[in-house]
Amino acid sequence: MSDAVRPTVRKSRAMKHRATHIGERKLDPSTLMMGYGYDPALSEGSLKPPIFLTSTFVFESAADGKRFFEGITGVRPGGAEGLVYARFNGPDQEILEDRLAIWEEAEDALVFSSGMSAIATVLLALVQPGDVVVHSAPLYAATETFIGRILGKFGVTWLDFPAGATREEIETVLAAAKAKGRVAVIYLESPANPTNALVDVEAVAAARAAVLGESPPPIVIDNTFLGPLWQKPLRHGADMVVYSLTKYVGGHSDLVAGGAVGSKAAINPIRAMRNVIGTITDPHTAWMLMRSLETLELRMSRANENAKRVCEYLAAHPKVERVGYLGFLPEGSRQADIFRRHCCGAGSTFSVIVKGGEAEAFRLLDNLKLVKLAVSLGGTESLASHPAAMTHLSVPQARKDELGISDNLIRVSIGVEHPDDLIADFTQALDAV
Ligand SMILES: Cc1ncc(COP(=O)(O)O)c(C=O)c1O
Repeated sequence: MSDAVRPTVRKSRAMKHRATHIGERKLDPSTLMMGYGYDPALSEGSLKPPIFLTSTFVFESAADGKRFFEGITGVRPGGAEGLVYARFNGPDQEILEDRLAIWEEAEDALVFSSGMSAIATVLLALVQPGDVVVHSAPLYAATETFIGRILGKFGVTWLDFPAGATREEIETVLAAAKAKGRVAVIYLESPANPTNALVDVEAVAAARAAVLGESPPPIVIDNTFLGPLWQKPLRHGADMVVYSLTKYVGGHSDLVAGGAVGSKAAINPIRAMRNVIGTITDPHTAWMLMRSLETLELRMSRANENAKRVCEYLAAHPKVERVGYLGFLPEGSRQADIFRRHCCGAGSTFSVIVKGGEAEAFRLLDNLKLVKLAVSLGGTESLASHPAAMTHLSVPQARKDELGISDNLIRVSIGVEHPDDLIADFTQALDAV
């Protein structure tokens, strides 16, 4: 075996492959996705990183093994200096993590086997029995289940506030939570699935400082719908951002993965939990995600433009009651104010509220030809689904009413097709409603 195929270790990746500037010019994330953090010379000159299918890594010396394990076990925080065992780290995962962090100018990142395993690992690392989780509402249904039912089994309770709540309203909820027990984490999802309601992260950070200033819990936010292009919550006071990478980052509806990015201090306890329970993504999926990151900006930008065109068409259609699209927030509204301060694009996942009820919504879904009837989002192809009957079926009716998850609401994720073809598809499907 030649030296050239020795597995890469973090410390040995040549600095020139981690350069973020050319002269004075700071390179854009879209440029860095092509090669950042990978040294071809360590892998026979292969332009792309190989997929390292191995369960363990050979140490050059016992002292190396000891030093690496100090990082794995948390004796020294910050992760292992070298590759150890595939439940802890691997070259594909580490290069991917370095690249993921770049989009949000974060110090550190971790990748997981799914969005839910990222969220579960983060929450398990942060909470103890008797703690209170404060969260925005609505949340992705499985996240709500994890906080309410799974953490509930271990004596964790929760309080929520509606997405869009003001600083004063959030302060009231935080004060009530503080009276119940230690507030372990403030967990946000913005835009929320499926209503697209935005959370005022700046107001949450101000409320936390006012009520919990002496021992502030981390603010964690699920940025799956707009990130990492159109919203960067670390700039607005969040400590950690979590992702379902299955959606826009993966972008081709062909993998399931999750991520977490933030400061080294925020990420260290999450890495320690991931090392124990093994929720890291596999090398093949990590490789696929690196491939996806190369076109992330192109895909998200095209989908963004397409969604605007489709929403303009749908909003003017006589069979459509309303379109829940972030580009159409009423001037002067609180949601529009949050959008202006936190977001730089409206994204391409939105809701369409058709005139009528479930029957009309189902007819629209059943008649779409190009747009596929499936429950994900963020892929190259457009998808549509019915949250009340599908992803949010298990949510009690009263809660659905409160959150606006009505029977005539369809969730749409627009892809990168030609926008005129998508409009033609909606035209013929709405004719059949
Ligand atoms: C906002 C949001 N967060 C988390 C998840 C869970 O991600 P995954 O399916 O990758 O576990 C989803 C899935 O739809 C989601 O929409």
